Amino acid sequence: LYEIVLGGSHVEIDSIEYVQLQGWVRTNRSSGKIGFIELNDGTYFRNAQLVYSSDLKDFNEVEKYTTGSALTVMGKFVYTPQGKQPFEIQVKEIELEGACDHDYPLQKKRHSFEFLREIPHLRPRANSFYAIFRLRSVLSMAIHEFFQNQGFVYVHTPIITGNDAEGAGETFTVTTREDANYEEDFFGKHASLTVSGQLHVEAFAMAFRDVYTFGPTFRAENSNTTRHASEFWMIEPEIAFADLEDDMDLIEDMVKYCINYCLENAPEEMKFFERMIDKECIARITKVRDSEFKRMTYSEAIELLKQADVKFENDQIEWGMDLQSEHERYLCEKVVNGPVFLTDYPKDIKAFYMRLNDDGKTVAACDLLVPGVGELVGGSQREERYEVLAARMQEMGMESESLQWYMDLRRYGGCKHAGFGLGFDRMLMYLSGMQNIRDVEPFARTPKNLVF
Ligand code: 4AD
Ligand code: MG
Repeated sequence: LYEIVLGGSHVEIDSIEYVQLQGWVRTNRSSGKIGFIELNDGTYFRNAQLVYSSDLKDFNEVEKYTTGSALTVMGKFVYTPQGKQPFEIQVKEIELEGACDHDYPLQKKRHSFEFLREIPHLRPRANSFYAIFRLRSVLSMAIHEFFQNQGFVYVHTPIITGNDAEGAGETFTVTTREDANYEEDFFGKHASLTVSGQLHVEAFAMAFRDVYTFGPTFRAENSNTTRHASEFWMIEPEIAFADLEDDMDLIEDMVKYCINYCLENAPEEMKFFERMIDKECIARITKVRDSEFKRMTYSEAIELLKQADVKFENDQIEWGMDLQSEHERYLCEKVVNGPVFLTDYPKDIKAFYMRLNDDGKTVAACDLLVPGVGELVGGSQREERYEVLAARMQEMGMESESLQWYMDLRRYGGCKHAGFGLGFDRMLMYLSGMQNIRDVEPFARTPKNLVF
């Protein structure tokens, strides 16, 4: 009894003779007497091999089916263990569902990612994208399972918001008007697209204890890098009665769970990435899954950077500086050679809501840096002390009126709590070895890239 995957489900091939398949032509070649079509039905990487002979009444028509055409086929299933393909379908009936014009851009050859970025409506059919978008789906499931298995409540935080959660002024304004007046464009109020669901999800943590949000976020930063997008997805858990250590434990568990889940649930895709994108990828993430993440303070990191025997573009290493990606990558790639948590950053380079440490200079923050990607996660313990938070906001020149609700969470039964944000798209880059965030998003939005 042999088992194979067909049409997305496992079937025992002894029990089938005739099958119906629907899918798209990858290649079609004919000798005039016998022809072969590689058909992809969307459920699996590999193509089904169709064999058709001149007995078929539409033979001359079928010979002309071009790459990309959509077909429905009925044929005899033949197991071919000696052949290149594990099985073939000997075509009895074939119907052209949709022809494909000759200018179809996806011919059978390797296309550059740059070229494919210009045709986001067609590129899911190209192997690399077929693999990455399936992995995207599998990874989403991994995230939900990880949190749901532990009783976390999934909260849908708003996309349109009156708060700039990060206080970094990188918001897109929502407007209903042609003659934009940014202060009151949302029916008389100022509103923007969310940069983070954190503040809202904190409110829910004070009711459900352990919560997470997972949705799209928007940043109006004009960064043209391979790791920044204007629209990206973020996973943001928030845990009550928890501190920074608990937060880092949760991050580490989550990353390991996701790695394991993808290795188990997307084995073909992972093998594809190993073959075509990053030869180390499976070995690399397997090692990460099985080892403990390093933790070091920002201050320790600064010392290491000062002693580094490489030349940084920004060579003015001093305590208080914001680390550039070259510094982050040096730390995780050269010093640690694996994921590393950096903790206790200077308060001046971090957001207002992070809990002030006893030294009065640093905050209980953590960033998880990983080789190849840099910052994968940013998290912190939150400032739960009303007065300290108020003072911090004032020090940063923030107007507190629109955030009074957030501060009230500290007056109405506040407690120590922590959370983090995982960049979903960056996690996909990390798992697959893909080098550009534009190539892990279905329709990427970056400052210079808005196709459709
Ligand atoms: O470090 P960030 O800005 O943290 C927050 O937004 C917090 N409110 C999270 C929290 O504590 N709930 O962003 C978190 C992560 C980053 O580590 C990075 O992986 C990703 O989001 N990220 C981006 N991904 C793609 N494009 C961008 N422009 C990104 N900005 C941040
Ligand atoms: Mg960050």
